[in-house]
Amino acid sequence: MPNIIYVIAIDGPAGAGKSTVAKRLAAELGFAFLDTGAMYRAITLKAMREQINLEDEDALAALAKRTILDLKAVSAGVMVVMDGQDVSKDIRTLDVTNNTFYIARAGQVREILVEWQRQIAGRRSIVAEGRDVTTVVFPSATHKFYMDASVEERTQRRYKELKEKGQDVDINKLRLEIEERDQKDFTRKVGPLKQAPDAVYIDSSRLTIDEVIETLRRYIGL
Ligand code: DC
Repeated sequence: MPNIIYVIAIDGPAGAGKSTVAKRLAAELGFAFLDTGAMYRAITLKAMREQINLEDEDALAALAKRTILDLKAVSAGVMVVMDGQDVSKDIRTLDVTNNTFYIARAGQVREILVEWQRQIAGRRSIVAEGRDVTTVVFPSATHKFYMDASVEERTQRRYKELKEKGQDVDINKLRLEIEERDQKDFTRKVGPLKQAPDAVYIDSSRLTIDEVIETLRRYIGL
């Protein structure tokens, strides 16, 4: 039997459950897992730490070029090592989340990150998730999915997640933040979030993680 290299690409809005699903799917199938959002977050963190003007695309691109990013698979998911330092936790703060759009809209930075993402995929089977992995990064992916969930459902999930971490948050503020992030993701000029014509649409609003994974595996045939 020929050795098929699978590239399973999953795009969708923030909070649709892509990360959890992609991580588990990769583990079940023994594939590599590529969290592309972690790369945008890492560059955002570095730009903030170095107090780079986030509006200055040339400076951001120069910063990306002198960055060494390594995504290591660990049991908890992915460990993000930037210039030799574990930044896995630091890239998930609210400040970083709110500033990622500066990096995400910078075309020159996207080009660099897309190139890295293709290199990481290399010649092995992979599950990749993000906003443009089905459209820009891996247009010839073997399987493409667009994973969606209603704003209300995504808000509730995020609220529950933060509550469990002991953080007290205003649910209305959370909903607004999700809507704002959607708006930025859908309308950016480069690499906007959109459903690829050949992607399978999955609404996870009323599905459990297990059910989503089962659905994906049925499509993939593994
Ligand atoms: O999936 P996430 O929330 O970790 O992504 C962080 C940010 O990076 C998000 O605001 C959108 C951006 N992003 C992107 O522009 N392209 C990707 N392929 C992945 C993420």
